[in-house]
Amino acid sequence: MKVAFRTFGCQMNISDTEAMMGLLRLAGHSIVNSEEEADAVIVNTCAVREKSEDKLYGKLGQLKAQKKRNAKLIVGVCGCVAEKNSDELLTHREVSFVFGTRAISRVAEMLSRASAGERFIELGDFVDELDSETPRLRTSKHHAWITIIYGCDKFCSYCIVPYTRGREKSRRMEDILAEAHELAKLGYREITYLGQNVDSYGKDLGDGSSLATLLKETLKIEEIERLWFLTSYPRDFSDELIEVIASSERISRSIHLPVQSGSDRILKAMNRGYTREYFLNLTRRVKERVQDSSLSTDIIVGFPGETDDDYNDTVSLIKEVRFERVNLAMYSPREGTLSARKLADDVPQQVKTKRLNDLLALQKHINREENEKYIDEVLDVIGEGKIKGNGKIYGRTMNNKIVIYEADLDKIGVPVKIRIESVSAGPLYGEIVGR
Ligand code: SAH
Ligand code: SF4
Ligand code: F3S
Repeated sequence: MKVAFRTFGCQMNISDTEAMMGLLRLAGHSIVNSEEEADAVIVNTCAVREKSEDKLYGKLGQLKAQKKRNAKLIVGVCGCVAEKNSDELLTHREVSFVFGTRAISRVAEMLSRASAGERFIELGDFVDELDSETPRLRTSKHHAWITIIYGCDKFCSYCIVPYTRGREKSRRMEDILAEAHELAKLGYREITYLGQNVDSYGKDLGDGSSLATLLKETLKIEEIERLWFLTSYPRDFSDELIEVIASSERISRSIHLPVQSGSDRILKAMNRGYTREYFLNLTRRVKERVQDSSLSTDIIVGFPGETDDDYNDTVSLIKEVRFERVNLAMYSPREGTLSARKLADDVPQQVKTKRLNDLLALQKHINREENEKYIDEVLDVIGEGKIKGNGKIYGRTMNNKIVIYEADLDKIGVPVKIRIESVSAGPLYGEIVGR
């Protein structure tokens, strides 16, 4: 069969789709880009906000129309909305099967059942069936994602993820390292370790494994030039981890530490488990110990009960830390979460929108000021992809700055030195001055 994937949401979903594509190809199917050409379309979904969920329902509308032209079209739905709305999804006639975030290893078998005409829901936990032997069709040839821990145990009051991804479960360290070795042999030079809380890695294994030890072990693989990890949970970000990062130039200087709010009152209602002062201290320690580090964060505006004072605490925190990137979102109540059950979504829409836009403008201003510091500096960059239509490519620095420069496509995946000539609030622009 020809199978097309549509993937929404975070890197976990992208990584899951890579495994499913690999497994289906192994089973003799081919992966195609176009939905029109496909015999089966699998939609990997995100439920983090209402808008993310809407993307699935928009897609189902299109697929329903396509099914009128091709009655045999098979539609599978997986990912976080599949976990959350499984029964409802199967009431859509165009949907053939629905499966959960921990059932992806069975995708080939499920596709055969669906093509035999069966309609079903599969929410079982088969996550142990995924390991370093799982074939993966990776999107990049240079930079690979490896999931090291599944699930989340934190239960922040607004968040659906613990309900859709289940409890924390770490992969065995030997298995992760086997995958990293294999990738190095295949020519990969960069790896990102993935999890909702990578700092929790190893706690459930009870054998002393931790993110810090995993990073140290991975550094022994010499071919891996850059090692990244996502996402960190501020409360669990240990001094040991800071020291490991500081100790090696091959570990990313870009650290994603979602703060969510700068107000103690709101942090408490969010059940984040830390205070503003704790977070500020942590960021000071990181900046002191890790040279050239850049911090990024996630912020929610308009959480229930957020007053102007609470919001101003967030503004002042952003001004103090001067993040490299801020992912901003308006609070969106998620069915079944504590905040949706207990707290009224009482910040008016226009206030949420204004707060979001004001923070966007503030962040842009900070980015431009920070970027100007790079003018005339020479940065180490690895090429990543081409910019459409102008003979330029873009690459990335160790602290996650995007740099655009003139180069042939064979410079993709290659480390170069770039002198920065001009900047924007987004990318930096420069020219190659050496390897
Ligand atoms: N594990 C990570 C990120 C998980 S979801 C962490 O702890 O931060 C990614 C981001 O989506 C979150 O950081 C949060 O900013 C946002 N988010 C999660 N639930 C949300 C909700 N109900 N409304 C708005 N934004 C939300
Ligand atoms: Fe959601 Fe909190 Fe878990 Fe992040 S740590 S995934 S925000 S519950
Ligand atoms: Fe979305 Fe699920 Fe990731 S809700 S952000 S796809 S864990």
